[in-house]
Amino acid sequence: MPADLSFEQAPPISVPLRFFLSAPIFGVVAGALLSWWGADVVTSRWLGETLALTHLLVAGFMLQAMTGALFQFLPVAAGCNIARPMLVAATVHPLLAAAALLLPLGLAGGIAIALRVAAALFLFAVAIVVVATGRALLRTPAQGATVLALRLAVGGLAITVLLGTALADGLAGHRSWPLVDLTSIHVAWGLGGWALVLLAGVSYFVVPMFQLTPPYPPRFARWLPLLLLAVLLVWSLQLIVPIPQQLVLICGMALAGAFSATTLWLQQRRRRRIRDPVFWFFRLAMSCLLAAALLAAGVALLPALHDEASVAWILGVLLIPGVFVSAINGMLYKIVPFISWLHLQRLALPGTPVPNVLDLLPGSAMRAQMILHLLAMVLLLMSAVWPSIVTLAGVAFATSSAWLGVNLSRAVWRYVRARGRIGASERGR
Ligand code: HEM
Repeated sequence: MPADLSFEQAPPISVPLRFFLSAPIFGVVAGALLSWWGADVVTSRWLGETLALTHLLVAGFMLQAMTGALFQFLPVAAGCNIARPMLVAATVHPLLAAAALLLPLGLAGGIAIALRVAAALFLFAVAIVVVATGRALLRTPAQGATVLALRLAVGGLAITVLLGTALADGLAGHRSWPLVDLTSIHVAWGLGGWALVLLAGVSYFVVPMFQLTPPYPPRFARWLPLLLLAVLLVWSLQLIVPIPQQLVLICGMALAGAFSATTLWLQQRRRRRIRDPVFWFFRLAMSCLLAAALLAAGVALLPALHDEASVAWILGVLLIPGVFVSAINGMLYKIVPFISWLHLQRLALPGTPVPNVLDLLPGSAMRAQMILHLLAMVLLLMSAVWPSIVTLAGVAFATSSAWLGVNLSRAVWRYVRARGRIGASERGR
């Protein structure tokens, strides 16, 4: 790990931490609402309530955590820093949080003004994120596969939010947009162009580093985001010309499947038999991605499955809580104690003891929450067949998210206390 590099250039720790600590709150709200609304949400992906839950996770939980990761990660992996990170984070964080609460309110309640305000806030906040990170990423001399993936992911985020805004405006104003086509393009850019490409870019860097695996094959790492981009561009053409949808979908799923299979294969070949919770969270995320890719390819080949509500539910559960929430959960368990430890190292004079990462966030706390997350996943998947279970699944998911929040907050609290102790001992010298 280029600790000195990450350390010299990393933003103040409060920049990423505010995003990381907010993310679980959206998971708690989503789980609580899921159990409140109950079995109806499983019956259709188009219900306002279902769309609201989706966005609490994708535009709340995921966007918060991924924005924080982007701010923390740029200096470390791409050797570039965003200008005035404190100001950017202080502006963007509350705007994104407010937007991510208003959008579900507008979707679930059919409240036009909430949809419009949410869309405006998202546009403004994401424009700042895209300009701040985009400028840094375009100026960096670094050229690796991670930088390429990060550039594409930031572009993917911009397109997702533009399309999301058009959709929100369409719903709020009852405009005659081609909503179904626009939605399928928005979903592809959101889950594929933004979330998956960012996950791939970050994985290229952190999987070999934290899980001691061999590196991703360089050509594969470079071509994956480019091919995904090509698939997304062809997919988007459906707005103006007919495209062979099944074929394009299968190509996209083959790429997603190849990424998950490669990551699982690399994990198998890791140099030390580490089996910490982070390893298992990543395993779960990659297995869900493989399963989702196979299922989506199956749906493309068997159109009879296309309108099955339970299939859409399973796909949504595999992709959103299964892939992205699991991977983020694992990454947060690695990143939060690690950056806290790095900052303490810098503050302490030589010879002053500094708590290590496991003192900051013990393995037992992570393991217990991981088991609950697994249980929530099983219950969510079972709800496709027995929708009444969804109430229990919601409780499990909300509790698991709350537990994640508690574990992260305790790590930050221990960091703050250690910083205080270091400050006091330095003053006493
Ligand atoms: C940031 C990442 C985002 C991701 C990953 C994402 C993903 C999704 C997904 C998965 C759906 C569900 C469609 C389905 O069930 O097939 C959807 C629909 C929708 N999204 Fe997003 N979304 C994001 C951001 C946004 C934003 C910022 C807005 C608005 C400003 C938005 C507005 C909408 C609307 C209005 C729909 C429903 C469309 C309809 O009913 O026709 N999304 N999105």
